[in-house]
Amino acid sequence: SIHPVLLCGGSGTRLWPLSRKSYPKQFVNLSCDESLYQASARRLSGAGYAAPIIVTGADFRFIVIEQLAAVEMAPADILIEPSAKNTAAAICAAALALEAREAGALMLVAPSDHVIPDAAQFRDAVAAAAPAAKSGQLVTFGIRPDRAETGYGWLELSQPTDDFGPVPQPLKSFVEKPDREKAEALLAGGMHLWNAGIFLFSTTTILEAFAKHAPEVLDITRAAFGAAEKDLSFTRLDADEWAKLPDISIDYAVMERADNLTVVPYSGAWSDLGDWQAVWRDGDADASDTVLTGPATALDCEGTLLHATSEAQELVGIGLKDIVAVAMPDAVLVAHKDRAQEVKAAVAKLKEKA
Ligand code: GDD
Ligand code: MG
Repeated sequence: SIHPVLLCGGSGTRLWPLSRKSYPKQFVNLSCDESLYQASARRLSGAGYAAPIIVTGADFRFIVIEQLAAVEMAPADILIEPSAKNTAAAICAAALALEAREAGALMLVAPSDHVIPDAAQFRDAVAAAAPAAKSGQLVTFGIRPDRAETGYGWLELSQPTDDFGPVPQPLKSFVEKPDREKAEALLAGGMHLWNAGIFLFSTTTILEAFAKHAPEVLDITRAAFGAAEKDLSFTRLDADEWAKLPDISIDYAVMERADNLTVVPYSGAWSDLGDWQAVWRDGDADASDTVLTGPATALDCEGTLLHATSEAQELVGIGLKDIVAVAMPDAVLVAHKDRAQEVKAAVAKLKEKA
């Protein structure tokens, strides 16, 4: 069976004020009646899937269990990171934990904050990826790009994909977060897909890749895992070792350097709700491209997001163009939509003040 590894360590500050340090976006009900984390766990469950391994920070250790219990699931293991060191270490720790239980097992690494509405279609893509993963490939999932996005990884195809079925093909290269000029060239060239940020590989393949491309991450994570403390269903990675880790993502540490990459194109809807512009893009827009959530009302607005979170509080916009407004009982955000990325900087400023 396939072992899901759910990454829930990001703090999601670009979605402030909905996403908070103590309650990041993956645990919030953004649009439907379950959180993105619950939807991610359920998407990777059922026939052919083992119970998930959760990798998260100490602050979230109870939320991850409670939210799984609410959808009648239980984790196989919860790895607690003493601090956030990015995805390379998180994935390496999960690989070591799984390898100890079942050598050579397949792991499906997935963020817990993506929106993928068609779970059945996604599981079909994973099934199509399994043979390549078993034969030693690092399998990525590719999304057809529709803009020169600089916040994603770009996957260079060996052949054009016109029919766009879930047919695996070898990748020529992996380019993480290109600058604008480069992203525009990749989009125009038509030979790249976006990296969905979801990976399938065996523990053997990924541990070999760490040994080859990021030995420091492997050695330190192994020491932190070796000295880990078991506490209820939690595996607390050793803090002294963990502190020595470099802060690096799997994309830079391994994917950009590897030559055993495969991509499975995915044609279903997919979205990384990374910032408010993405929430606007993903929402149900009216004829003037305006998206309303909760008790919100727009008069003569265009390309705007009005996101109200409390039934007790009306949010009204008049004559707005390309604005995001988010109302919470204790905080309100009003920003130009094109500057949604800068919410992160604003949150840093709030922290200084506090
Ligand atoms: N446990 C844990 N620990 N999880 C983490 C950590 C950490 O230190 N850092 C990040 N994560 C989680 C985030 O919560 C998120 O679910 C996932 O790992 C990916 O991290 P992001 O920080 O959101 O990455 P990104 O969106 O900038 O880029 C990645 O995803 C893109 C698609 O959404 C890359 O893989 C890109 O190549 C890809 O295109
Ligand atoms: Mg992301």
